[in-house]
Amino acid sequence: MTVLYTDIGELVTNDPTHGDGGPLGIITDAALVVDDSEIAWVGHRTDAPDADNRVSCAGTSVIPGFVDSHTHLVFAGERSAEFAARMSGQPYGAGGIASTVAATRAADYATLLAGVQRLADELLRAGVTTFECKSGYGLTVEDEARSLRIAGMVTDETTFLGAHVVPAELRDDRAAYIDLVTGPMLQACAPHARWVDVFCDRGAFDVDEARHILSSGIAAGLTPRLHAGQLGPSAGIRLAVELGAASVDHCTYATDDDVQALAGVADTTVATLLPGAEFSTRARYPDAKRFIDAGATVALATDCNPGSSFTTSMPFCIAVAVRDMNFTPAQALWAATAGGAAALRRSDVGVLAVGRRADFVRLDAPSYLHLAYRPGVPLVRDVVKAGQHLPHSYNKVESRS
Ligand code: NIG
Ligand code: FE
Repeated sequence: MTVLYTDIGELVTNDPTHGDGGPLGIITDAALVVDDSEIAWVGHRTDAPDADNRVSCAGTSVIPGFVDSHTHLVFAGERSAEFAARMSGQPYGAGGIASTVAATRAADYATLLAGVQRLADELLRAGVTTFECKSGYGLTVEDEARSLRIAGMVTDETTFLGAHVVPAELRDDRAAYIDLVTGPMLQACAPHARWVDVFCDRGAFDVDEARHILSSGIAAGLTPRLHAGQLGPSAGIRLAVELGAASVDHCTYATDDDVQALAGVADTTVATLLPGAEFSTRARYPDAKRFIDAGATVALATDCNPGSSFTTSMPFCIAVAVRDMNFTPAQALWAATAGGAAALRRSDVGVLAVGRRADFVRLDAPSYLHLAYRPGVPLVRDVVKAGQHLPHSYNKVESRS
């Protein structure tokens, strides 16, 4: 069945063959046709072909579905008291992860799954049509494998993060924990994961440990991505470049040399910036202009987790990125859609072009600029994923008679 979405005031395609040649490929007074789960046609409204059904978008803006390349959704409990303490002046550190690990281990499967489903639903309602999800709050063979099985219920983009921190019971024997992560835990988790990740930062794992863990993951068939440079300058960013990681995330303290190194591998390794983490830990923001001007590929992600960034709102992240990280609104939207797709090495999403998956968001606004211009306002009117309207959609699909 084909559906014509028409009367689109402003269509962001991320296909630079449209519009003024800019990366967003904007078509004004546009239409698109969806055939089942894919885009079948994109162009000006007046040139649109016939379709079985027709939906008017009433002059609003339509954008590609957001691609969130960094989340930690599998956990139990919450850490609002830690957040409140931080807002009263306490610094953020990797140590808080331990309390979520204890709660996660104690939770049963159904509780963890229900939590993940709730957050996955929040993401979808915020316009996120593809997302990655990490383990990392289990830190035993069984708890990490369980976390990844649960993550796999809501996304194919699953990441083994056994190397989140060294758990309390092995605090005095980190070598034993690293042997576990690179041995039996990796063996149990690899069948359920696409990616391997390490938290390479102060209080977590150093760069040599990260190299060893990522290399073991690569040998087990996983593709590397890395947390680095969140809490201080880190050789981890260069490690990600050296290993051809799909993405290096946070990059808050990236040096000029790191930025140059990332620019040199813009087709391989994406710099993923996480505004929610700086916002919620009251940390300094990285300057996106440095990365973009140098030629690095930049993504924006929510980093949804109970410690450092408990948000599923990509529009919120875009607003912060524009206000405080020196993104233009256009760069921020691209980073939250096509940039996220690049960070997940996905060519089927992030772009509205013929043959791509029909994932898009109708905004309650005439322009995508309103995502940053109207911070905190629920502008996501309707979400279409693989051609399907979200159940909550209140926009009737009219039959063409
Ligand atoms: O990406 N940095 C490491 N992991 C998370 C935080 C985890 C936590 O505090 O629970 C992050 O910010
Ligand atoms: Fe993270």
